[in-house]
Formats: sequence, C-alpha cells, structure tokens
Amino acid sequence: MSGERRPEPASRGERMADWADGRLGIYALGRQYLRKVFPDHWSFLLGEICLYSFVVLILTGVYLTLFFHPSMNEVTYHGSYVPLNGVRMSEAYASTLHISFDVRGGLLVRQLHHWAALVFVAAMVTHMMRHFFTGSFRKPREVNWVFGWTLLLLGLFEGLFGYSLPDDLLSGTGLRFVNGAVLSVPIVGTYLSMFLLGGEFPGHDIVARFYSLHILLIPGIMTALVVVHILLVVYHKHTQFAGPGRTERNVVGAPFMPVYLAKAGGFFFLVFGFLTLIAGVATINPIWQYGPFRADQVSTGAQPDWYLGFAEGLVRIMPGWEITLWGHTLVLGVLIPIVVFPLLLVFIGVYPFVEAWLTGDGKEHHILDRPRNRPVRTAIGASWISAYLILLAGGGNDIVATRLHLSINAVTWTIRIAVFVVPAVVLVVTRRICLGLQLRDRELVAHGRETGIIKRLPHGEYVEMHKPLTQAELHTLTAHERPGELVERER
Ligand code: HEM
Ligand code: HEM
Repeated sequence: MSGERRPEPASRGERMADWADGRLGIYALGRQYLRKVFPDHWSFLLGEICLYSFVVLILTGVYLTLFFHPSMNEVTYHGSYVPLNGVRMSEAYASTLHISFDVRGGLLVRQLHHWAALVFVAAMVTHMMRHFFTGSFRKPREVNWVFGWTLLLLGLFEGLFGYSLPDDLLSGTGLRFVNGAVLSVPIVGTYLSMFLLGGEFPGHDIVARFYSLHILLIPGIMTALVVVHILLVVYHKHTQFAGPGRTERNVVGAPFMPVYLAKAGGFFFLVFGFLTLIAGVATINPIWQYGPFRADQVSTGAQPDWYLGFAEGLVRIMPGWEITLWGHTLVLGVLIPIVVFPLLLVFIGVYPFVEAWLTGDGKEHHILDRPRNRPVRTAIGASWISAYLILLAGGGNDIVATRLHLSINAVTWTIRIAVFVVPAVVLVVTRRICLGLQLRDRELVAHGRETGIIKRLPHGEYVEMHKPLTQAELHTLTAHERPGELVERER
C-alpha cells in the first residue's frame, strides 16, 4: 500500500466554476479581463452614471408596463383621486392616475422613472462633453463616439415618447407640437401626419404606437448599442490623462477585480439611491394637476423636458414666416427650426471626422488633451454649449417673462439676437482664455510657482522666490504635443 494521500475533494464553489468553465469558458475570459486596468479619474464616472440610470429606467419601466394601459379609448374616471371623479378621459391617462394613487409604490416608481430619464440624458450630455473637450473621440475611438452619439439621439426621442404616453394635458400639448413640426414638412407633411396619428390629430392610435416604440424597439436598440459601446471601450482600452509613467502604450490604474468592481458596484447603489431620494422628495410631472388632454385646451407654461427645450426654443424665437410656392404653403416659421434642430446635433456627431480631416491628424491617441492645449476645439465646444443654453432659455420664454416680470416680446428679441452674438463671443473669449492658460503653464514650467517670499539681493534689488515644480508636475504640464491646430498658432 502506498502512503500517497488522495487529493481533497473540490469545494462546491470550485465544482460550480469548473462546470461553468466547461460550458462557457469562463476561466479564459477571467484571465483576460479580470485584471483589466481602469484609470482613476472622476470624469470617467460620467459614463457609469449613464449606464446606471439606464438600468434604473429599464427596471422602473418594466414595473410601469404592468399597470399602464396604452389605449386612447374613452372611459369615465371613478378612482381614488376625487377631483377628477366622473371626468371622461383616455384609458392611458386613467391608468397613469391609477399608478400614481392606487398601485403600491406606483407614484415612487413613476417619479423614479421620470427623474432617471432627466438624469440619464444630462449624464449623456456631460459624458459627451468630457470626451469632446479631452479629445478622447480621436482615432481609434471615432466609431464609438458615433455609437454614443446615436444613444444620445435615441435617448432624446425615447424621452419624448415616454412623456407623451400618459395622455395628460401637457403631454398632449407636446404631441400637438410634434404634429405641427410634421405638418410643416413640404408637400408630404399632411400625409405624414395622417400616417403617424392614424387620422386627424389627435387620432386614436398614437399612444399605442409610441408605447411599442418606447418599451420595445428603442430600448432594444439602445441596449444593444450600450453593450457594443462598452465592448469597444474594453477593446480600445481606456484613455488616460498625461502623467508620470503614462504613455500612449500603457494604461495606469487599478484592476477590474477587486478594486474597480467594488467601486463600480458601490457607485451603482449610490446612483440608484440618489435617484430614489430625489424621486421620493421632489414632485415631477404631477399629471393629476394638468387633467386629461383635450384638443381645445392648452395651459400656459407648458414645457418639454429639459433636453428638448432647445428644439422648442428654436421654434419660439423664429418669426412666423409663411410663403406660398406653386400652390404649396411653406411654414418657414416651423420648417427652418426643424431643419436647424438636427443640424445642431449632427454637427456634434460628425465633429471627430471633421477635426481629423482639417488637422490632417491620422495618428492613434490614447493620452487625453487638456482642454487649454486645444484652444479652437475648446472654444467650439463652449460656443455650442452657449447656443444650446440660450435656445433652452428661448424654450421657456414665457416662464422667463412671467418670473422676471418682463415683456415676452423683449425676452424673445433678446434671445433672437443672443443666439447669434453670444456663441460668437464665447468662441473668441474661450480661445483667448485657453491661450492665456497656456502662457501661464509655460511660466510655471520655466520659473516655478510664486512663493510670496521676497528676497533682497546684495546690490539692493528685491526679487520674489520661485519654487520649481516637481518632476511629476513638470511632466504633466509638458507631456502634450501640438500638431496642426484648427487655425494657425498664436505666437
Ligand atoms: C432611455 C430609456 C427611457 C427613457 C428616457 C424613458 C422616459 C420616460 C418618461 C419621461 C416617461 C413619462 C413618465 C411620467 O409619467 O412622468 C415614461 C413613461 C413610461 N415609460 Fe419610459 N423611459 C425609458 C425606458 C423605458 C423602458 C425600458 C420601459 C419599459 C420596459 C418604459 C416604460 C414606460 C411606461 C410604461 C411609461 C408610462 C407610464 C407613466 O407615464 O407613468 N420606459 N418614460
Ligand atoms: C447610454 C449611454 C452611454 C453609456 C451607458 C456610456 C457608457 C460609457 C462608459 C461606461 C465608458 C467608459 C468610461 C468612460 O470613459 O467614461 C464610455 C466611454 C466612452 N463613451 Fe460612452 N456612454 C454612453 C453615451 C455616450 C455618448 C452620448 C457619447 C458621445 C457622443 C459617448 C462616447 C464615448 C467615448 C468616445 C468613450 C471612450 C472614451 C475613452 O476610452 O476614454 N458615450 N461610455
């Protein structure tokens, strides 16, 4: 008999892992990806906020589908919200009242869904801006930029469709706006409107149609895009800011397992918790106060959600021009804004390609730019944001006028002028600020930091002592190249 000891039987966990590996190859995947490195910078959390609020939208959205009836059939309300007792309304509106007042946790989930939508789009815009200003969209990430941009575009429409579902007075007013935009399309506008609504406005089909798009088609496409977007981040690896030890060929940071996973997991619950907190304390879209949609009624102060406010602004500041050509009426007051609206977005979508073409930059980039080192790009981004914000204010011209006790015409005219002047001023000023900051960096590198200590030299002259920067600081400030800028360099 040999004295050899038999190997200990594998633990249950190991046996389960072996079982899964035999079928899914998880060990090879784990070896490759569990040690994937994530650089540490607060701005990288913005993509995670997009992801987590999207997950919250799906979770809450699924709960809402259990109780929401996407039907425009008329019913008489007899639910627990007494002020609307006996009022005729669509089934969609009645079911949203039911969710708000009778379903357990219904109001919280509705509010959570709506708040998550607002935060989701805000996170996407901020995430996009961080990529824009730091140039992370450059080769090889242009395609991922376009995927992200498509997510933003789909998010805007997904929000619009969701907003239209409850069929309250506000959402109906939004739909009338959409219908007006569709009607302004030359020649085929009336046909398109009839096709969309299944008849004269508001028709009987639109809520059911938007419902299918809202809960199935668009989230399906978005989920697929999010997966591809993140797979591409893994494939390209992360960009990182310049710093000691960081090169175009490496990524410095913490590994996925366990550091990043613990951080990201905790951050998910933080985002979820924060959204639930806002949903619990801040009312959003109290549809019971607006009442059901009726085509002959409209309330003042009607606003879309913030992310579509700029489109509304474009229409509100446009003069009501109308011309007739060959027997067709062209409603330029609406047509021009609905042409400019996509152009503003398309400009952002194609920007990486335009920049690469204008600067002749065909190289790969994995180290991020400091915005000041790209004055023209930074100025363009700031100018775009200023145009967006002015148009957003234009979308609320009635609110601005009533809150500030101003004439609505004065507000509208101010915005009409500002939308041309302010972005141009912002463009020039931002570029000058960036150049000024570059000079400051150059000073710092050459002479170090001012210490405030004044020293008297033997021949009587007073000089301020400067403290040289550390090697790490010097590296960070100088580790950038300045290939072809969009315009000639300032001396
Ligand atoms: C990017 C994703 C999404 C966005 C931006 C979004 C946005 C919205 C908004 C703003 C509303 C109006 C909420 C209100 O009544 O105040 C809404 C309603 C609704 N959403 Fe979504 N949603 C998204 C995804 C989903 C998904 C994935 C589902 C279902 C699987 C869903 C189901 C619903 C339902 C049933 C309603 C009507 C109920 C109600 O208005 O309370 N949503 N959505
Ligand atoms: C549902 C919406 C989105 C989700 C869930 C999402 C998620 C993420 C995550 C988690 C990352 C990695 C972390 C980071 O660098 O921040 C990332 C990277 C990236 N995203 Fe998004 N994103 C979304 C929308 C967008 C949009 C709207 C854009 C731009 C138009 C965009 C462009 C990019 C680019 C270029 C990268 C790679 C940058 C790098 O490696 O440094 N994303 N995204």
